[in-house]
Amino acid sequence: MSDDHIIATRGAGVLELRFNRPEKKNAITNAMYGALADAIETADGDGEVRAILFTAAGDFFTAGNDIVDFAAIATGAANDAPRHVGRFLEACIRAEKPLVAAVQGHAVGVGVTMLLQCDLVYVAETARLTTPFIDLGLVPENASSLTMPARMGHARAFAMLGLGEPLLGRDAVAAGLANAALPAHEVEHRARAAAFALAKKPAQSLRLTKRLMRDPATLLQRMREEGALFAERLQSDEARAAFAAFLQRR
Ligand code: COA
Repeated sequence: MSDDHIIATRGAGVLELRFNRPEKKNAITNAMYGALADAIETADGDGEVRAILFTAAGDFFTAGNDIVDFAAIATGAANDAPRHVGRFLEACIRAEKPLVAAVQGHAVGVGVTMLLQCDLVYVAETARLTTPFIDLGLVPENASSLTMPARMGHARAFAMLGLGEPLLGRDAVAAGLANAALPAHEVEHRARAAAFALAKKPAQSLRLTKRLMRDPATLLQRMREEGALFAERLQSDEARAAFAAFLQRR
């Protein structure tokens, strides 16, 4: 599946996947999830790809799931085409190649939780990272109810998930979410350099090391538990009201 809102390029052992929908703050549509999932699944079986790099155009990394898509599901207006978000999340959890993220701007929702599945994260000092699932009448996804408290401790994770408090990029290193916080214009360069450095490492050693450091089975189980609740919540009155409020604001 191809989609010009996701630009895939390859070079020197690195597959770069670029969010390219800046006019909508890189909000992720079903087609974009499909393009991402296809690319990551294919890359994992391709010996020439040694690392995967996420980048983004514009001032947002991504504003998360497209709320127009959410609203269509909530109101029963969505068509019955296959939904790809689960495949994308699962591909990130299962990925044996290292995942590197260049978070040059703000990130919302899945734009934050996907960072918890990445192996190296470089973030702009000025970026605001928010996970407003509860304000949208939803629950956390992408195993973040597990990974976020594991990374930053319950107190900080609950402030983000429960209160919807932002985490600033400059605090993301201390919170265990990022490797470095940088001026925005340096983020992509630094992340790309890290991805190229990984691509030059002995590939099998790198793969085995990543495998030893993560437990995909536990993450997938939590992702599915959350997914079942998330699907229920998407149909809830609380979620419908939140989506309607966002759409009316426009
Ligand atoms: N889904 C769909 N469209 C989105 C979007 C999203 N998640 N986030 C932003 N957009 C769209 C806006 O509707 C707007 O479209 P328009 O120009 O056709 O009206 C455009 O992107 C620019 O966004 P805007 O709201 O004008 O920019 P802003 O800088 O004032 O605010 C956000 C940016 C991200 C804070 C705000 O758009 C927002 O809260 N978005 C929703 C984020 C969210 O809740 N995501 C889901 C998480 S689970």
